[in-house]
Amino acid sequence: MSKDKVQIFDTTLRDGEQVPGCKLDTKQKLVIAKQLDQLGVDVIEAGFPISSPGDFQSVHEIAKLVKNATVCGLTRAVKKDIEVAAEALRGAVRPRIHTGIGTSASHIKYKFNSTQDKILERAYEAVAYAKTFVEDVEFYAEDAGRTDNEYLARICEAAIKAGATVLNIPDTTGYCLPEEYGAKMKYLKENVKGIEKAILSCHCHNDLGLATANSIAGVINGARQIECTINGIGERAGNTSLEEVVMILRQHPYLNLDTNIKSEMLYETSQMVSNKMGMPVQPNKAIVGSNAFAHSSGIHQDGVIKKRETYEIIDPAEVGVTESSIVLTARSGRAALAWRAKKVGYELTKVQLDEVYQEFLQYADRKKEIMDEDIHEIIEGCKVKLES
Ligand code: KIV
Ligand code: ZN
Repeated sequence: MSKDKVQIFDTTLRDGEQVPGCKLDTKQKLVIAKQLDQLGVDVIEAGFPISSPGDFQSVHEIAKLVKNATVCGLTRAVKKDIEVAAEALRGAVRPRIHTGIGTSASHIKYKFNSTQDKILERAYEAVAYAKTFVEDVEFYAEDAGRTDNEYLARICEAAIKAGATVLNIPDTTGYCLPEEYGAKMKYLKENVKGIEKAILSCHCHNDLGLATANSIAGVINGARQIECTINGIGERAGNTSLEEVVMILRQHPYLNLDTNIKSEMLYETSQMVSNKMGMPVQPNKAIVGSNAFAHSSGIHQDGVIKKRETYEIIDPAEVGVTESSIVLTARSGRAALAWRAKKVGYELTKVQLDEVYQEFLQYADRKKEIMDEDIHEIIEGCKVKLES
């Protein structure tokens, strides 16, 4: 049975670029956009065109460059924003306007000093206006995570009536639990009239470290688009990490969901974004961190050397990492030492290995990691003893 496709909406260049202290110029954004297009993302959110002349320029250049993915520009539910986004997207093969408004009680009261009915009217008008420029219009209900479900369903219905093709349900503050976010999607799927005309989209922030879990709960409950960024970068604690959701769906085939992502390009894309943004990837980051396929304790190393799958659920090659690494530390055992010694040219007998291992432990207690040159030094030092 063929799998249901989950669209990957990449917002590295818009929400991701909202990282404090990081800035990309148009040239860098074009390089990343090209890479994302090759990676196989379905939508590239290229920026927020009204926010600055530089962002307008970037969206415009990306719109002209990208040939496969849909190129999207963000707007508020404001006519001028929509006009500027439409202008920036001119030349795109597949343009999309992403417009919306805050829908939670606190956004309506404190941001807009308005009422639910007036906000619903603004949402309808924004989508209808965007629709006069492009066919593909995505509506976002900002702070949907904390928006009452009944009102959220009403505003989604209005957006569909106005012509929205995608309904984005952002957990803007990263507040929801997976069960709650999944239940919200299910509620919308079952209660919004005309929902078959639109795709539900997950847009989860990571304030409680739940962005990935919430997005997966969203697609299990009927959403068919995930909004995410490379390395999970974004405002505050960031957005859903693209590489994580892609590999979760691949690792759990019974969910019957997949994406168009060429996973073997994930590692190089992660490195590219990290380098261009000057934002290092934390070593223990799932999928693309430098330790994601590194094994340091003796028990694990012994298992991995015998059979990789004992401690790895993903073949590193699947995400573009050449091979798993065995890191030699004071926690390593004889199996790892023998394996590494063989790699650098020494075939040790059992007796020799015992001898070298004792020396190795002395070294390893003094050093964080034992490198190839240390192995040579240890073995050569021992040889003298072994031979005399
Ligand atoms: O987090 C959010 O609510 C957003 C919207 C503007 C889509 O980024
Ligand atoms: Zn966001």
